[in-house]
Amino acid sequence: MAKFVGGVATSHVPSIGAAIDHNKTQEAYWKPLFDGIEPLRTWAAEAQPDVVIVVYNDHASRFGLDLTPTFAVGAGSSFLPHDEGYGPRPVPPCVGEPDLAWHIVESLVINEEFDITIVNEMTVDHGLTVPLSLAFGQPDQWPCRVIPLCVNVIQYPQPTANRCYKLGKAIRRAIESYPTDIKVAIFGTGGLSHQLQGERAGLINTPYDMKWLNGIVETPEQLAQTTHLELLTEAGSEGLEVIMWMIMRGAMAKDVREVHRFYHVPASNTAYGLLVLEDVE
Ligand code: DHB
Ligand code: FE
Repeated sequence: MAKFVGGVATSHVPSIGAAIDHNKTQEAYWKPLFDGIEPLRTWAAEAQPDVVIVVYNDHASRFGLDLTPTFAVGAGSSFLPHDEGYGPRPVPPCVGEPDLAWHIVESLVINEEFDITIVNEMTVDHGLTVPLSLAFGQPDQWPCRVIPLCVNVIQYPQPTANRCYKLGKAIRRAIESYPTDIKVAIFGTGGLSHQLQGERAGLINTPYDMKWLNGIVETPEQLAQTTHLELLTEAGSEGLEVIMWMIMRGAMAKDVREVHRFYHVPASNTAYGLLVLEDVE
């Protein structure tokens, strides 16, 4: 049977990827951030997941206003990095895990009544590749297979935090019913507070970010009731990305052990947040 090994919440700021790709991680601006994520790398190397489900949002790269799936699962056998304007990131292609992806899709649609979009061909942008770089560094090949789970957080109406939480729970049931002996982890990406546009560009709300870091660990049921209006007001227009952390948390046990927490400002215009969590059995 598949074994669930843990969950990670991490922001996916694109300039973190650029800092890695251009060997700037030891420069004064970036060193504190990369020192702070080191325990994630240690955890990932020890946990050795065979498959990571990466919950992320596409930033008008593969999808856009012409086609905006609410929840899309990548069921293909490989996913190349998308060219977001400076050429594709120099990271390996993601190797997919179509068997598990299809099992999850089948379980979601048939058993759980979640009507999921199935994507057989897709490129993946910084929302997915930056978290992989944070967890695994710069290998020639990613040490795990990847199932992209893409969430619409860009175009109204986005799914609620509670819907995301329920999706996470449904995904966990799908993992538990997968007969093959593999280790599976889930990453929830995006957030924390950030606004990239308009009068409030650069908004950082640290007390509100703390509410999310604490709430994800301790009171996810309560956090799942958060409205989009609250998120937009408190965390900024792109802060809504943090609803993707609810999918990760929903996939975990009721009680979790906090293996590592890190919070850092600034990372570009965004507050960087990281949680590494394991189930309390
Ligand atoms: C930026 C973009 C993002 O998608 C994000 O989540 C955080 C920051 C940026 O362009 O700085
Ligand atoms: Fe983003």
